[in-house]
Amino acid sequence: LDLPPFENEPFVNFNDPAAAQSMREGLDTVAGLLGKEYDLIIGGRRVAASEKIISVNPARTGQVVGIHQRATEEHAEQAMQAAQAAFQTWSRLPMEDRVKVLIRTAQLVRARKFEFCAWLTYEVGKNWAEADADVGETIDFLEFYAREALKLDQSTTPIQYPGERNRLRYMPLGVGAVIPPWNFPLAIMAGMTVAAIVCGNTVVLKPSADAPTIAARFVAVLEEAGLPDGVVNLLQGEGPEVGRALVDHPQTRFISFTGSKAVGLEIHERAAKTQPGQKFIKRTILELGGKDSIIVEADCDLDAAVDGVIASAFGFNGQKCSACSRVIVNQAIYDTFTDKLRDKVSALKTGDPVENVYTGPVSSQRAFDRVMSYLALGKTEGKLLLGGNAIPTKENGYYIEPTIFTDVAPTARIAQEEIFGPVLAVIKSHDFDDALSIANNTEYGLTGALYSNSAAKLDRALVEFHVGNLYFNRKCTGAMVGAHPFGGFNMSGTDSKAGGADYLLLFTQAKSIAEKV
Ligand code: NAD
Ligand code: ALA
Repeated sequence: LDLPPFENEPFVNFNDPAAAQSMREGLDTVAGLLGKEYDLIIGGRRVAASEKIISVNPARTGQVVGIHQRATEEHAEQAMQAAQAAFQTWSRLPMEDRVKVLIRTAQLVRARKFEFCAWLTYEVGKNWAEADADVGETIDFLEFYAREALKLDQSTTPIQYPGERNRLRYMPLGVGAVIPPWNFPLAIMAGMTVAAIVCGNTVVLKPSADAPTIAARFVAVLEEAGLPDGVVNLLQGEGPEVGRALVDHPQTRFISFTGSKAVGLEIHERAAKTQPGQKFIKRTILELGGKDSIIVEADCDLDAAVDGVIASAFGFNGQKCSACSRVIVNQAIYDTFTDKLRDKVSALKTGDPVENVYTGPVSSQRAFDRVMSYLALGKTEGKLLLGGNAIPTKENGYYIEPTIFTDVAPTARIAQEEIFGPVLAVIKSHDFDDALSIANNTEYGLTGALYSNSAAKLDRALVEFHVGNLYFNRKCTGAMVGAHPFGGFNMSGTDSKAGGADYLLLFTQAKSIAEKV
C-alpha cells in the first residue's frame, strides 16, 4: 500500500461563495434527515431498546436531531461478546487490510464534508468554521493513523543479537471501551475509535448522549467503507449505566476515555479493581479537562494577544478542553489590554449557528445551568467587565453572553474550576515569575500560551510552563494532527498525545521474538 505523505486537510474558506453555497446545501440536506430513529449496532445487528435518547438542537430545543436507543447493561454484555468474537478474525488481518478501511472512510467523510459539518451545526451548535475544523481533524486522524499503523507494522528492534533473528511486533490488546465526549463529537470520537481498531483491536463505542447522531452517522460510513461486523459496536447510552458496565467488564482490556476529570478519575479507579475472571491489568487512556491560561507580557504584540485570547476563550463558546479560561496580564498593560478585550468581545455576534455567527448556544440544559451558576459565582469573585446573562430566544436555545470577569484572584473558584463555557477570568500579574506561578497554580495542565517578544521568556516557559500543549504568540486552541500531538499533564490526563506518532502504541502490546539462526 503506497500512500502519499500525510498532509492536513485544508480548511474550507467560507468567504468563497461556492463553499458557502455547498455548506447551505449540506444544511438543507441534513435538515431533511433530522428526527430519524437509529438503532444500536451489535455485531452488525440492528438492535432496538425500550427506552430512547432524544437528541435536540441546542439552538432550537424543540427540533429533534435524532432518536436513539438507550442501551441497557444487557446490551453492553451483548456488545462485549460481539467484539470478542470479531477480535478473533480482525486482529489477524494483515495491517494493510485494516489501513484500507481507514483510507476509504477518510475518502467518504471528505466527499460528505458539508453534510458532516451540518450534523455538527445541528446537534452541538458549531458554526461553519468550527464544524469544518472538526470534520477536517476527523479526516486527519484517519489519514494519519493509517500511515502510522503501516510504520508500526514495519518496526523492528534496533539491534540484532549475534546468532539470532530478533523482531518486535506490536500486537493488539483485545476489546476496548471507547468513551468520547460531546464537544468534538466527530473528530475525537472517530480518532479514538479508529486508532484502536487499526491496531487490530475491536471496540464497543459508547458516544456521548449529547451527540449520538453524529456517532451513528460515522459508524454508518465505517460500515460503508467495508468494516466487518463486530469490530465497532455502537452502544448509545448514559455514562452511569452502560459506560460503567463497560468499564467494569472483566473482558474489557482497555478503556479509551476523553471527558471530564470527575468521570476520568472514576474510570481510573474502577478499572483498577480486578473483576472475577479478569486475566489482565486494564489499560486506561484518559484525556480530561483543562483550565488553560494565556500569559500576556508587556513586551508582546498586544493586538495579536487580544485576538488570540478571544479565539481561545470564545471560539465554540469556550467549550473546548483547550479553551483559554484565564488570561494572566502584566500590570503594565492590564488596563489597555482589558479595554481592547472588552471592545472586541462586545462586537462578537451570538445566534443560531446555522447562520454562521461567531458564538451559538451552549450544548445542553445541563451545560446552561452549570455556566449560569458560574456567572453568579463570578459576580461575587471578580468584577463583571462584560456579559453575565443568558440570552432568551423564542426557540429556547441555550444562549449565554460571552462573559469577562476582571480582577480575579488566582485562587478564586472561577480561576480554578473548569467552567466549559463562554467565561473568561482576567488575572493581573506583577512580573513574569508571578505570571508563571499563577499559570501553574491549578490542578490541570492541558494547554497554555505565552504572548511575548522576549526569547528569554519563551525559553523559560518551555521548561517552566507545565502543560502538555504550549503555544507561543498564538492561540491555545486548534491543535493540528501530526504537528501538535495533543494531551495534558497533571489532572488533564495521561498525556496520550492524540494525533502524534506515539499514540498508536497505547493500543498495542509489544512482543519480542528471538529466533536462533
Ligand atoms: P463527561 O465526562 O461528562 O462525559 C464523557 C463521556 O463519558 C460521555 O460519553 C459520557 O456518557 C461518559 N460517562 C459519563 N459518566 C460515566 C461513567 N460514570 N462511566 C463511564 N462513562 C461515563 O464529559 P463531556 O461533558 O462529554 O465533555 C466535556 C469534558 O471533556 C470537559 O471536561 C473537557 O475538558 C473534556 N475534554 C477533554 C479533551 C482532551 O483531549 N483532554 C477533549 C475534549 C473534551
Ligand atoms: N484538539 C482541540 C484543540 O486543540 C481540543 O483545540
